[in-house]
Amino acid sequence: MAKRIIYEPSRTLLEFRLLPGLTTEYSTIDKISLQTPLVYSADNEKKYKLNIPIVAAAMQSVSGDRMGIELAKLGGVAFIFCSQSVEKQAEMIKKIKSHKAGFVNPKTVDPEMTIAEMYEIREKTGYSTFPVVDDKNVFMGLLSKYDYDLGLHGNETVGERMIVKENCEVGINIDDLEEANNLLLQSHKSVLPILDKEGRLLSLVFRKDINDHLNNPDEVHDDRKRLLAVAAVNTHDYRERIKALAAEEVDVISVDSSDGFSVYLQETVEWSLANYPHIPLIGGNIITAEAFRFLVKIGCSAVKIGMGGGSICITQEQKGTGRGLASSIIDVAQERDLYYQESGRYIPLIADGGVTSTKDITIALALGADYVMMGRYFARMEESPTNKIVINNRVMKPYWGEGSAKAREWVEKRYHQMKFVEGVEGFVEYSGRLRDNLDETLTKIKASMSTCGAADIMEFHQKAELELISALSIREGKAHDVYIPGENKAPDSNNNF
Ligand code: IMP
Repeated sequence: MAKRIIYEPSRTLLEFRLLPGLTTEYSTIDKISLQTPLVYSADNEKKYKLNIPIVAAAMQSVSGDRMGIELAKLGGVAFIFCSQSVEKQAEMIKKIKSHKAGFVNPKTVDPEMTIAEMYEIREKTGYSTFPVVDDKNVFMGLLSKYDYDLGLHGNETVGERMIVKENCEVGINIDDLEEANNLLLQSHKSVLPILDKEGRLLSLVFRKDINDHLNNPDEVHDDRKRLLAVAAVNTHDYRERIKALAAEEVDVISVDSSDGFSVYLQETVEWSLANYPHIPLIGGNIITAEAFRFLVKIGCSAVKIGMGGGSICITQEQKGTGRGLASSIIDVAQERDLYYQESGRYIPLIADGGVTSTKDITIALALGADYVMMGRYFARMEESPTNKIVINNRVMKPYWGEGSAKAREWVEKRYHQMKFVEGVEGFVEYSGRLRDNLDETLTKIKASMSTCGAADIMEFHQKAELELISALSIREGKAHDVYIPGENKAPDSNNNF
């Protein structure tokens, strides 16, 4: 006989709706804060807070350094995937930590190169402005797209066509974007090379980028104003991986396993805390109160919840393990609140896998999650690490599970472990730039919180009242019984955020 049989079916996020609470002048959309803790911090440090309750999943088709940089600028973080070599992952963390908003690390050219050779670099990189440097990286001049024409100048050298240093405006050791902006405005120039005192090139600042960068009030950074970086690690090569990530000053590490209730995860967490006690750890994934207690006991500072619900996940079918995400959050959040009363330590919870729409995000937060992790949402964006492809006249991007044959190729070569797959490979509809999508998603979350009378996520947990709905109510909740011209969505259309 089984140890326990539960006859009440587990519930998904789709099955709940929120009841309105009293909306006041303190909980209108413009006043709502979406700030939320990334991990528990005894000193309540600012660097461990996100400004939006959304993070990108640690997956090959989702979270590279480009996503890491853009999402941190917008207030969240991307968990940089670990199904790649230690060196490549550490390099991604380095890129995020060394990124200076608005300060571009440019491709340089040397003065002896012909314009035709330089043009080849332009074709490959897409850049059209090149700083010219000598073999000691000392700045000699600038070549913008207005300074050359392939047909006319192909055989001339870069040195002959460049605007020489004496005629360029340069900034010396500037690291403040507003200061760089002022210099650009004063000089009527569109690009500003930043040099060190010896005249070596450090970076370029483009006028066209500045507004974009000054426009990121939600950016999350460490105490040295560098963007926040989070990396995932597995429970196999964690020693060398954590060492390399720590060397690049990663802020937080997520110890990832499809089943986080395990002694292997414990070994990894204990080793990391013994060797790098200053790096907080997120543990997961788990779906029960008992597993939550296990993870906090071994030292995790945040806990990731979810098993079997991801859009590319076939774990439930393959192994028969898993649980509806709503039931998992409810059980774990209850235990977290108890633990908080007992210890005074508030452990943030992350709802992960199968968040299919903005209303799912809102329900997950209302039930007690502090932020949600998504794969499919981010895979659709310009900043995910995959290339666009046209299928049946629709622009798509590939998206595959970390447990799929494609992602496991790397693991397989290394550990020879794959006996069966737990994920599929597919495509999602391309959605454009992340910043153009996020605004609507966040406004909808704020609108729900406002309806419930909650001005921040903590208050949302305390005030939210939810109700299970029937299949008929779900039908009633959609537009129905009217003819809507042009409405011909595929049932699995994936732009429902
Ligand atoms: P999505 O947001 O519904 O696409 O789910 C993303 C989440 O699915 C990830 O954060 C992981 O927790 C989980 N996941 C990623 N790859 C796989 C897989 O191959 N099998 C099962 N779950 C996966």
